[in-house]
Amino acid sequence: EFEVELRSSGRVVRVPASLSVVDALAAEGVDIPVSCAQGVCGTCLTRVLRGEVEHRDLYLTPEEQAANDQFLPCCSRARSARLMLDL
Ligand code: FES
Repeated sequence: EFEVELRSSGRVVRVPASLSVVDALAAEGVDIPVSCAQGVCGTCLTRVLRGEVEHRDLYLTPEEQAANDQFLPCCSRARSARLMLDL
């Protein structure tokens, strides 16, 4: 379990272990476009402004993952207690 913070509004949304970031945000009325929902297509790519990502996608290169400035919220999660997203 971790939290995501939305840059534009400062809202903080809790992401329980049972939900993806996309699903946790959708439950709060924040919709991120999704296609494959499996970390393959890149449709849900979102910029990360703060916090450490746990990448679980197959889309970003290892170098892009290591840069820690974007992630695929349909499948990837957080290592840190909170991620700030450019949403
Ligand atoms: Fe395809 Fe997230 S929806 S990578």
